[in-house]
This record gives sequence, structure tokens and C-alpha cells, in this order.
Amino acid sequence: MAGKLEGKVALITGAASGIGAASARLFAAEGARLTLVDVNHRALATLVEELEGSGAQVISSQADVAVPTEVAAAVDATIAKFGHLHVLFANAGISRRGLAPEMLLEDFDRIMAVNLRGAFLCARYAIPYIARSGGGSVIFTASELALVGSPGGAAYCASKAALLGMTRALALDHGKQRIRVNSLCPGAVDTPLLWSSAEWLGMSIDEYRAEIVSRMPLGRIGQPEEIARAALFLASDDSSFMTGAALVVDGGWTAR
Ligand SMILES: NC(=O)c1ccc[n+]([C@@H]2O[C@H](COP(=O)([O-])OP(=O)(O)OC[C@H]3O[C@@H](n4cnc5c(N)ncnc54)[C@H](O)[C@@H]3O)[C@@H](O)[C@H]2O)c1
Repeated sequence: MAGKLEGKVALITGAASGIGAASARLFAAEGARLTLVDVNHRALATLVEELEGSGAQVISSQADVAVPTEVAAAVDATIAKFGHLHVLFANAGISRRGLAPEMLLEDFDRIMAVNLRGAFLCARYAIPYIARSGGGSVIFTASELALVGSPGGAAYCASKAALLGMTRALALDHGKQRIRVNSLCPGAVDTPLLWSSAEWLGMSIDEYRAEIVSRMPLGRIGQPEEIARAALFLASDDSSFMTGAALVVDGGWTAR
């Protein structure tokens, strides 16, 4: 049976770890040719080797999504290699917590630069090629924290909520070009990014895990593969009548 992304070319950012890496594995298994983008060159190289070993067509691009020339180069490399681009999964993100009166402005700016401007830059350079390729799907990784607050999350929550606004506007601008634009709102997912918050919250990783699990309706933390399956849904024709939307995959956290 043909994979859900057979014949498609996808670019995934933040691909070296967590949700991005799980999505790279799933998209490749579903037949996509891939460009994997991350700042972490070493982890990227290991993943590329793994995917090539299972027969995938994949290239990598070491790029900081906050730098326009680096994003443009990753998109150009995709077109040079594969000739088309159908799916942009702008997933790279960082989390730094801090109270507004105390946090370094550099930290606020960096969160915005990676999480919001980075996603915008990816869309800016990818959309013309997706249009030329006959249309496709743009997916932003927002967060459940686009919808609810979290301690010390003024910058992070703002960056993710802004992605939902950008999703809606881009959906209006590019629908006639057959480009769908949606956001994914994961809840707590077992990746390095999640655990990086524990120290600021004054907890060990085990304490933080127990605290999340105790409040999570499904009684557990999510796995990156569970978010990858939602990303596949948004990337593929299974979501063909969906645009401008936010898909929440959070174990019920925001149902509370
Ligand atoms: N893990 C969670 O609980 C959770 C919840 C909601 C949303 N998210 C979002 O999911 C996305 C993926 O995060 P994850 O949980 O898989 O974390 P992760 O730390 O495992 O992976 C993030 C990847 O992004 C890369 N990256 C960071 N800054 C970059 C930059 N400037 N340019 C290119 N690559 C960069 C990192 O090197 C890393 O490989 C992020 O946008 C994050 O905000 C995560």
C-alpha cells in the first residue's frame, strides 16, 4: 500500500530531536523525501544515517531558523535536490522560563526569534515553492501553552499564541494556491525541551514528571511519536479540508 506521503517532499525543522525526529521517521516511512533542518549538526547526521539505512531519500541542512539566509539556503537545497516542496513542518522551538520583571530581554528576544520569527521565515521562503509544486501543507508546532498560561511562560506562551494568529492569516492568504496552513498544539511530551523547565520550577525531573502526571487527564506524559502521527495527519490529504486550525494533542490538559 502506498504511504500517505508518497511522492511528497517535506522540510522539517527542529528535526534532530524529540517531535521533529519522530516526525522525520514517520514521514520517511510514509514515503516522503525529506530535508531535515536543525542547529544540532551531529544529531542531524546520526538521524540522516539511520533514515538512509532504511532506504529514505533525505538531506540535512544545519541552519538556525532565526537567520533568514540559513532558512533560505535550506529551502534552496531542497529544491536543488528534489525539485519540489509540498510540506513545511516548522517545528523548531526553544523554551526558557522567567518572570517578566526578571527575565533577560535577550531571552525574550531569542524565544521570539526562534519560535515566531523562525516559523515566519520558514513560511516566507517555503510557500512560493510549495505553490509552484501544486500546493501542500504548512504546519507550525505551537503548544497547549498557546491556549493556557504556565508559570514563567510570558515569552514562551506569547510566542506560541502568536503562531495561532499567523496560522489563520496565512491560511487566508494562501488557500487559493492550494496551500493549507495549520498549527499543532502538543501538550507535555517526553523530550529534552519539556524537562528543561524543571530546574526553573524548582523540581527534579522526577518531581516534575509526577506533578504533570497527577494533573493530566490521561494520566501520563505524551510520546513524540504521538505528536508525529498528528503532524502526519496535517501533512497528508487526510486533512484535505482543514486550514487555519489548531489541532490540540495534549492528553486532555486543556480540557481542565
Ligand atoms: N515537549 C513538549 O512538551 C512540547 C509541548 C508543546 C510544544 N512543544 C514544541 O514542540 C517543538 C519541538 O520541541 P521538542 O519538544 O521536540 O524539543 P527538543 O528539544 O527535543 O527538539 C527541539 C529541536 O529544535 C532544535 N532547535 C532549537 N533551536 C533551533 C533553531 N534556532 N534553529 C533550528 N533548530 C533549532 C533543537 O536543536 C532540537 O533538535 C518546539 O516548537 C516546542 O516548543 C513541545
